[in-house]
Amino acid sequence: MAKERLKSPRARLFVALDLPEEVREGIVLWGRKALSDPALRPVASESLHVTLAFLGWTAEKEAVRLGEIVRAVAGPAPSLRLSDPVQRPERGRARLFALPAESAATVELQAALQEKLVAARLYEPEKRPFWPHVTVARVRREERGSQRPAAVEKLPGALPKGLLRAFGGVRLTLYRSELQPQGAQYTPLAQVELPRGRQ
Ligand code: 2AM
Repeated sequence: MAKERLKSPRARLFVALDLPEEVREGIVLWGRKALSDPALRPVASESLHVTLAFLGWTAEKEAVRLGEIVRAVAGPAPSLRLSDPVQRPERGRARLFALPAESAATVELQAALQEKLVAARLYEPEKRPFWPHVTVARVRREERGSQRPAAVEKLPGALPKGLLRAFGGVRLTLYRSELQPQGAQYTPLAQVELPRGRQ
């Protein structure tokens, strides 16, 4: 049994709320100037999302059960409202910049998802409360081999008005994350479209 478990192939999995294409494109357009500091690696359009649960290394065969859980929690599309970029961590050198996504419905959706994932023993909840956000850039390392992030001189400025308007999330996706030298690649393994809710 233990041997079998060791052999079972694993993948880094997470569940995310996908954003409408026009919002992702708007973020990319804004980012061309706002995220142009050479220390920043802007997140590509297809990788912009709100992570609901990062599962980490999980047996690939669990993707079937995970897909079922994702379908079970899917309801009307939650409404979200982005705000201007913030850095994480808050103090010291930034490791990433993210747009906070205010959304009571997404917080509820995440809680329902988390409950099912925990009941299925597929997820260990984070100690800190869920913070809905869209990561828009990661900070490069100061130098090879160093863990210290490079200094960002040109901080990302405010969002244009169009990106401050509320919009609906479009689907829930179970992603596999593969770390590549040029950044993580995310591949959808299961998806469920969310019917438009009240905006
Ligand atoms: P982030 O955008 O805030 O960095 C895939 O890695 C997604 O899962 C990212 O959007 C990332 O969130 C999120 N994530 C959450 N916890 C993570 C962890 N411990 N390691 C890697 N990614 C994590």
